[in-house]
This record gives sequence, structure tokens and C-alpha cells, in this order.
Amino acid sequence: MVASLVDELESRKPSLVAVSGDLTQRARARQFRAARAFLDRIPAPIVVVPGNHDIPLFNVVARWLAPFGGYTRHINPDPEPFFHDEDLAVMGVNTARPGQWSDGMLSDRQIERIRERFGRIPERVFKVVVTHHPFIPAPGGRAHALVERGFQALAAAESCGVDLLLAGHLHMTFTGDVRPHYLSIRRSMLVAQAGTSTSLRHRGEANTYNWIVVDPPALAFEQRGWSGSAFEPRVLTRYVKRDDEWIKD
Ligand SMILES: [Fe+2]
Repeated sequence: MVASLVDELESRKPSLVAVSGDLTQRARARQFRAARAFLDRIPAPIVVVPGNHDIPLFNVVARWLAPFGGYTRHINPDPEPFFHDEDLAVMGVNTARPGQWSDGMLSDRQIERIRERFGRIPERVFKVVVTHHPFIPAPGGRAHALVERGFQALAAAESCGVDLLLAGHLHMTFTGDVRPHYLSIRRSMLVAQAGTSTSLRHRGEANTYNWIVVDPPALAFEQRGWSGSAFEPRVLTRYVKRDDEWIKD
């Protein structure tokens, strides 16, 4: 599965790969080393953020004294990387917390940094936030908590022109607009939730990853699912922005 994924990325040549966290199961050095070796095979710039599983759970000393010690040592010294070029600006925001292990949260400082970083980027550049924990629930899925202080983060994202939020954690692939879930958010911002690309922890769906094509005013999400021998196209969802609103095409 990993080899197929790497082959696909080599032939399809994405301009960026977003990895929305949980690179490991128990934040052990061996698991981080394997994750690092996998990332090293990805032939594209990467924006990667930690997930809750990248914080030690049972090793309580490490969990509280150095929750991101393994992650920063093996994966990236910066748990909030920022990528931008002429067309695209992508900000990683670390929502993993030792005390909010499952649900995650954002701090005032992080929310301010969303404004600072995107505030400097021209309006025409497509802006994306990557987190581990989700901002909207799965349609018809089991109840689960959303990231704490997500509303405040979305208000910041709204004010500086973010159009897309990528997250993981749920192992379920879906897209949607944030507005039905946050009534005071006026700007149409889309979410693309990543399924699990290579882990064996499934929530009723196969391993998938999202192939996202940003071609303003169009935005296409192709869910590519594991058939047992290859990744193949599954659900294709296309949106077009009309009058500042993302409409399903
Ligand atoms: Fe997670």
C-alpha cells in the first residue's frame, strides 16, 4: 500500500502533500523512524502536523514534559510549518494536546498566527489550513467532539481569506462547508477530511487519500481508495465558487 501510494505520487506529481497527523500509534521512536522513512519517499513538498497519537499516552513523564519530543526529533522541528508559492499558501496548525488527547484544541497564540501569516499573503493566493482534529462532524457518522476553540480559529480564517481546511483524525473521508455548523461564520469555507491512507485502523471505509485540484474558481476532490492492489478513483466531488460561495457542481 505504501509502495503504491509513493508510486502514485511519483507519477501524478502533486505540488504539495498535506499530512494531517497521527504518523504513529504510540509515539515510539521506532514508529517515528518508520514514519520519517515514509515521508522521505514522498516526492513533493510536505506540510505535516502532529496528531494525538504522536504524543505519548502511557509514558506520562514524556507525555507532560516533552509531548512533542519524538515528533520534533524525527519528523519536523517545527510542528506548524508554512508553505507558500505564487498560487498556494498552506499553514499547518498543531491541535494535538497532552491534556486534550482525543479532541484537540487551538490556543489564542495559534489563532493569532493564522491572521498574521495569511494576512501577509495576497488575496489571489489560495489559502489552506491543515490540522489533525476536525472542524465539522462526519455526515451521518457517530457523534464525536470537534476541535476545541474551532469557532475562534474559523473566525480568524474567515477574516483572512482561507478557502479550505484539511484535517484527519476520524479515518473518514468527506467534504463540506463549515457554515451549516457555525452559524455566525459567513464566509464559505470548505473542509476536506482525509481518511486513513495507510493505517490498519478503519472506521468502515477502505484506506483512502484525497487528490485535490485547486483551479480557481473550481476545486475538485477525488477520493482515491485502496482496492486491495492499487489506489483507484472513488468519490469525485467538485465545487465552483460563485458570488463568494462554494457551490457543489
Ligand atoms: Fe487522531
